Amino acid sequence: MAYNLLKGKRGIITGALDENSIAWKVALKAKEEGASFILTNAPVALRMGKINELAETCNTEVIPADATKVEDIEALYEKSIEALGGKLDFVLHSIGMSPNVRKGRDYGNLHYDWFLKSLDISALSFHKMLQTAEKMDAINEYGSVVGLSYIAAQRTFDTYGDMAQAKAVLESIARSYGARYGASKKVRVNTISQSPTQTTAGTGIDGFDAFYEYANQMSPLGNASAEDCANYVISLFSDLTRMVTMQNLFHDGGFSASGITDGIIDKMSK
Ligand SMILES: NC(=O)c1ccc[n+]([C@@H]2O[C@H](COP(=O)([O-])OP(=O)(O)OC[C@H]3O[C@@H](n4cnc5c(N)ncnc54)[C@H](O)[C@@H]3O)[C@@H](O)[C@H]2O)c1
Repeated sequence: MAYNLLKGKRGIITGALDENSIAWKVALKAKEEGASFILTNAPVALRMGKINELAETCNTEVIPADATKVEDIEALYEKSIEALGGKLDFVLHSIGMSPNVRKGRDYGNLHYDWFLKSLDISALSFHKMLQTAEKMDAINEYGSVVGLSYIAAQRTFDTYGDMAQAKAVLESIARSYGARYGASKKVRVNTISQSPTQTTAGTGIDGFDAFYEYANQMSPLGNASAEDCANYVISLFSDLTRMVTMQNLFHDGGFSASGITDGIIDKMSK
């Protein structure tokens, strides 16, 4: 059911690669809720993914941008504001990649150039998008910027590798930039810490199926799906959450607050 929560709002959605992407679901919901928006992804992903199909469904266009390049982000904001006919009300940062994780490097044998790349793509890009937006005054008052995180920022998950540091930096940027942007332009900045989700980025983690199932058993409500995550993102883009900023918000069926569950006790007792 649609509620017109984003009627008249304009935004940018990064990170839709294919129909499993969290950003893909956010785009469909944003459309349903009355928003107009631009889709973007790295030029290489445009060749591999299916983003043009999504653009057609959402009756919008794709503007390529590598989120690690400030000049690409500047052009993205400039062209988006022109195409949408005004400043933005929301931005979704749904970007993550670690060459170390992708190439199966053990945490005790990290390649440091790749570590820097993981941080640049998955965390500093968030700062770059915020700083560029502020400098260009690209976002309206009470606009909302959301990044997607994972609980490996707070707890260890062996195979998550250097992405754990990337997520810790991402969440810290949401606090620091949220403080600054809230005071200067009343723009809100938050991260959502999402359950394991079956997407290209998610399933790239070694042993993903096991930790998906473990999280499912450890969450009283079960794992939150990509579609549920999209609903939560929409609520953060809406005016219903206009005083929420600088938060890392767990969206995980209760996983982050669980000590042990009956499901795990059953499994361990066998
Ligand atoms: N899938 C999960 O289990 C899970 C859980 C919690 C958080 N997240 C986070 O959700 C976000 C979205 O990931 P997803 O699971 O939808 O997977 P996904 O693979 O569909 O999306 C990741 C996106 O990042 C884009 N990207 C990579 N490098 C880029 C660059 N330089 N510039 C611009 N875009 C770039 C990719 O093209 C892709 O579209 C990521 O931040 C991820 O870490 C995922």
